[in-house]
Amino acid sequence: SDLPLILGIESSCDETGVALVRGCELLGDSVASSVDQHVRFGGVVPEVASRAHLEAMTPTVRRALDSAGAKLSDVDAIAVTAGPGLAGALLVGVSAAKAYSMALGKPLYGVNHLVGHVAVDQLEHGPLPKPAIALLVSGGHTSLLLVNDLATDVVSLGDTVDDAAGEAYDKVARLLELPYPGGPPIDKAAQKGNAKAMRFPRGKWGDGTYDFSFSGLKTAVARHVEDADRQGLPLVVADIAAAFQESVVDVLTRKAVDACVEHGVSTLVISGGVAANSALRALAEQRCRDAGIELRVPRPRLCTDNGAMIAALGAEVVAAGLPPSALDLATDTSLPV
Ligand code: KG4
Ligand code: ZN
Repeated sequence: SDLPLILGIESSCDETGVALVRGCELLGDSVASSVDQHVRFGGVVPEVASRAHLEAMTPTVRRALDSAGAKLSDVDAIAVTAGPGLAGALLVGVSAAKAYSMALGKPLYGVNHLVGHVAVDQLEHGPLPKPAIALLVSGGHTSLLLVNDLATDVVSLGDTVDDAAGEAYDKVARLLELPYPGGPPIDKAAQKGNAKAMRFPRGKWGDGTYDFSFSGLKTAVARHVEDADRQGLPLVVADIAAAFQESVVDVLTRKAVDACVEHGVSTLVISGGVAANSALRALAEQRCRDAGIELRVPRPRLCTDNGAMIAALGAEVVAAGLPPSALDLATDTSLPV
């Protein structure tokens, strides 16, 4: 193929991800995670994550190249996450990308992590129809995006005003004495619970915005746990998990579908670690079917942070003919789309 071979590098949080992409084809990819080093802290420790990126970066590039059967000299362009993300973590990836760019004499493209979460869907389901709406739900973000063009025109419709959706799962898991990260154990517990056993608040429900809020929900769960403690009642973890989860996925899917309807968009992409959630998938499928919307959810490995998402977006940016970044490319912890 005469499409350029893109090396993508991701290091915005706790995953060191590197991948090789040509067009919509994923040729090789490797991810090293430092999540095990954060477990005892119940959340990502920035300094620990930065150090882990430094140790993992070059070996991960090696593994990605090997898995693609490619050599470094085959690479035509380097794409790297310039933000948003953790300051020190971003610096490691961008520094590595600059070094490869300079050594190979190939162009460097700093790209947006959030848009990468959408672009990655093309590796699984082919070119994304334009426009599309994307719901990004992970430990770090809860964003609703209107994607007119991946490379040149993405509009933020809404965001969380406090905790990210995954962060809410992690905090509620802690209250219920479930392990970190909290999404998978809550998902599992909820499958045996009764979501109607209690009702938790839906943050920013029907407020006419596409913003989200999960801190009130977390506080409501905390109060419920305290009350049960005080009264010496047993905690029905499965029911609490199910009711909490229903509150989260109800508001996420409602606002995502509303955005599609308002903007006349017939494709919804859901990505980020929380996209693995079984209740979110089920309710999104049902509500999209009812509204005549095509739902696209990349496979779990592509939903969580990885290099393929950055390489996929890099391929779009190169195809759009955008100018490369200069070698003094800076990182931006709150880079807008
Ligand atoms: O995308 P990701 O791996 O990393 C970033 O935060 O960028 O997302 C991790 C988040 C964690 O908060 C985790 O609890 C959540 O995704 N998560 C889930 C599930 N699997 C992972 N949340 C709900 N249900 C799941 N099955
Ligand atoms: Zn992410």
